[in-house]
Amino acid sequence: MMKLTVKKPDGEAVDLLVYFVMESSGKMPACQSVPVRKALKQAWKAGDFSGRAGQVFLFYPAAAVGSRGAALRAGRVLVVGLGGPEEERAGRREQLRLAGGTAAGQAGKLQAAVMLAVLPGSTGLDADEAAECLCEGLILGNYRFARYKHKKTDREDEQPGQVEQFILHDGGLPHAAVRRGMDRGCRAARAACTARDMANEPGSSWTPDRFAGFGRELARGSDLKCTVLGKAAMEKLGMGGILAVNQGSVLPPQLVILEYRTGKKNPTLMLVGKGLTFDSGGISLKPAAGMEAMKYDMCGGAAVFTAMQAVAEERPAGINLVALVPATENMCGARAVKPGDIITHYNGKTTEVVNTDAEGRLILADALAYGIDRFKPDAVIDLATLTGAVIIGLGHHRTGLLANNDGLANRLILAGELCGEPLWRLPLDKEYAKQLKSEIADLKNVGGRPAGTITAAAYLQEFVGDTAWAHLDIAGTAWEFTKKSYVPEKGPSGVSTRTLLSLIRNW
Ligand code: BES
Ligand code: MN
Ligand code: ZN
Repeated sequence: MMKLTVKKPDGEAVDLLVYFVMESSGKMPACQSVPVRKALKQAWKAGDFSGRAGQVFLFYPAAAVGSRGAALRAGRVLVVGLGGPEEERAGRREQLRLAGGTAAGQAGKLQAAVMLAVLPGSTGLDADEAAECLCEGLILGNYRFARYKHKKTDREDEQPGQVEQFILHDGGLPHAAVRRGMDRGCRAARAACTARDMANEPGSSWTPDRFAGFGRELARGSDLKCTVLGKAAMEKLGMGGILAVNQGSVLPPQLVILEYRTGKKNPTLMLVGKGLTFDSGGISLKPAAGMEAMKYDMCGGAAVFTAMQAVAEERPAGINLVALVPATENMCGARAVKPGDIITHYNGKTTEVVNTDAEGRLILADALAYGIDRFKPDAVIDLATLTGAVIIGLGHHRTGLLANNDGLANRLILAGELCGEPLWRLPLDKEYAKQLKSEIADLKNVGGRPAGTITAAAYLQEFVGDTAWAHLDIAGTAWEFTKKSYVPEKGPSGVSTRTLLSLIRNW
């Protein structure tokens, strides 16, 4: 999908040639190409283009010079503004991703099939990092989900096109470093696009067995190991949470486990993702308005497994990984779990199910307790579209983070910042757990309206013991995430796949 070239970019007959330029106060932005610089000078003098972030300037070289003898052989040339040089490292990384997303968006509008993008020379980042971020932006911004749409023929209603071939030019930066960064960026972006694909599938298509199929397929082509626990195994192990949530569904639950091993002496990180393939609320039925979005309730599972997809390709050294996705629907049927029912989790704790719509914590509790018991990880991270309350608290711009370990929390915050996926930590004082006291069982599964995101995390905390643990509530960011050039305005964002990968790479 992405090729690296050393040929002179201006001599290539591509559909769209793209240069990226920094804004420099009062001066014309610098650009590597002499002929593009000429056009740029006119745009700059006219006051039309300064290199501000998000600014674009498109021209058709053949129209002015005549195609014979033209210095530029591309059908169209696009110049994209990166913004000014005042940003810190995370900000500079985001500038490149945004510019890549902008270029991909323009290419889509122009129905350009082949794009040659020239890496900017001076971004303040190392060559590999610049290449990584630009490639992420290009590929994430080129994402479309058109599986269920007919091709529209009239111009009015035309779908944006998709670039079929990206070619990257190193822009004069060290070639090997650019290649390394390009590969890293492409891998991460492709993984996040896979997460978007999973989430875009309807609940009737992306069913619990699809997680099992994905895990098995991944293991087949790599040295990952996949284990799938079915309903019978869960009954034997006493996973009362997953089984209770599954009761109303005709589809069996699946607990899908992927393992990546590099050696006993290395630390083990365990990832757990909520794989709720459709959340109707169960007997505590959700309102009809917006319920269709509950097909996205598996985005935690998608993030975890697509991070493992990138791990399978990249094979990071010095770390063992175990990924668990408890997968089921939450439906209301004749056998569905009822409010007031009492369940017993894997670790023996009993819970009064007061609201069947607080189901995420029930399936995660079993997966966390079982995974910690079985794999003895050094650290655990779970990801889930767990509470509507996190949207009230943080909106759609930050993922909620709760943790029993400051080191792990800070690592995640940094990883998120470097990926353009910001987190915000919420407190987890022990007072909150009191809201989960039940008259009749060890716990109840809801803590009332105050601090809904925190009490959900407090519930999970009952199942991690003293293992270092962090919980990401992605209910506000897994879809309708901050509007950006490389994040679709509607539909799933693929959030957290890249955050996890960044954390793993720097572990
Ligand atoms: N999957 C939902 C959380 C959710 C709600 C995600 C809205 C995205 C948008 C979760 O299973 C749920 O229903 N949570 C309840 C918990 C409540 C019953 C304590 C909620 O947030 O309303
Ligand atoms: Mn629910
Ligand atoms: Zn849910």
